[in-house]
Amino acid sequence: MTTGTALRFPAGFLWGVATSSFQIEGATHEDGRGASIWDTFSATRGKVDGGGTGDPACDHYHRYGEDVELLADLGLAAYRFSVAWPRVQPDGRGPVERRGLDFYDRLLDRLLDKGIEPVATLYHWDLPQALEDAGGWPNRDTAHRFAEYAALVHARFADRVRMWTTLNEPWCSAFLGYCSGIHAPGRQDPVAALKAAHHLLLGHGLAMRALRAQAPSDHQLSIVLNLSPVLAEDPSAGEAVRKVDGLQNRFFLDPVFGRGYPADVLADTAWLGDWQRVVADGDLDLIATPLDWYGINYYSPVRVSLADEPLAVTPGNLPGLRGVRMLEPRGQLTGFGWEQNADAFHTLLRRLGRDYPGVPMIVTENGSAFPDLISPQGTVEDPERSGYLVDHLRAVHRAVDAGVDVRGYLAWSLLDNFEWAAGYGQRFGLVHVDFETQRRTIKDSGRLFARIAAENELPV
Ligand code: NOJ
Repeated sequence: MTTGTALRFPAGFLWGVATSSFQIEGATHEDGRGASIWDTFSATRGKVDGGGTGDPACDHYHRYGEDVELLADLGLAAYRFSVAWPRVQPDGRGPVERRGLDFYDRLLDRLLDKGIEPVATLYHWDLPQALEDAGGWPNRDTAHRFAEYAALVHARFADRVRMWTTLNEPWCSAFLGYCSGIHAPGRQDPVAALKAAHHLLLGHGLAMRALRAQAPSDHQLSIVLNLSPVLAEDPSAGEAVRKVDGLQNRFFLDPVFGRGYPADVLADTAWLGDWQRVVADGDLDLIATPLDWYGINYYSPVRVSLADEPLAVTPGNLPGLRGVRMLEPRGQLTGFGWEQNADAFHTLLRRLGRDYPGVPMIVTENGSAFPDLISPQGTVEDPERSGYLVDHLRAVHRAVDAGVDVRGYLAWSLLDNFEWAAGYGQRFGLVHVDFETQRRTIKDSGRLFARIAAENELPV
């Protein structure tokens, strides 16, 4: 419905959905695929709620044809997916497994056949286990291995994929994987976590340089960051906000935008030792290789206060932070218990537009999990997810209206899938998946999203 008051997005605004390899593919032992850190971690007792593993997930490895039909049915212009490194290089280095590459070949042909633009992520957390055994991301060599892998995948698909992302959410790989250990590989070593963060960014920089050297001029190269506004109730908690914002956001944004690591974050983490000696000459230049766009994944804000005991070390995800307490979410929550806060999203986009100008953004993930049920009529009514979606799209629209250069919105996720440490219990899909039968059912929110995308506007 077009009315004079509907909220229109700019012409060419990119609408789509996102997934990732480990969360949907299944077939973890097929066609020569090597083990990834998530295979090992999810097979370890107590690491994943309900004991779920990457098998069969959504069995997308075999059902990709049906899934591309769903995308076409929803009329979406873009599909963001990731390539599983251990399918392509089972040991993370050396010989290529042709059958792994062939799978993405088939997927891409189907997508292009339906006129859907592929947005390929090269790393969405499934590090080959062999590389973790050799030291993982805290080991500098992993960055070089990543760049080699990235270049060979790019070379193979350069004729069909224009939009490329090096890493998805390096914050999670580094800090959840190596500091709190709630994600694979499950290590709890703050110094290793900071080294991992640097080597992930270095891997990004090396991959950017390699891809730039071989990419045709219409290729668009990017990185995807999970950015969160940091909120405090108490006005005297500014120091806590600064510290958490430093490690959550600026620690990744600043080097990618050519400003190096923020001095205040280096000072906050200095008591862990001189970890930044891992930063070699030239690393920061590589990390600052210019981007064509960058991706923002946003779900909810972070709430903080000053800790009662200023030297107390924050438990959890942020390496080396002292004097900060993480607070519970407030207001309306999703089924996952995450705060729903579209205003915070808007504020984040405005801030990025102001503080990091000059590079277009795409919202590469945004969404919510609720415990959806299929009705006896075979429908899935999910008004809460629709509400979240519309509220957050309004926040994007307001930002675009205010001049922030947001070029697209990719919803998380096409399908209910393996939600990492939360297993199969948290459903983010616009399409419901019955994990017993692998039956797919488009949810009401999926139909709503399809309508918004087709009309390029939000109903008022
Ligand atoms: C971010 C991650 O990229 C994705 O894999 C995950 O499922 C969603 N957030 C929801 O937690």
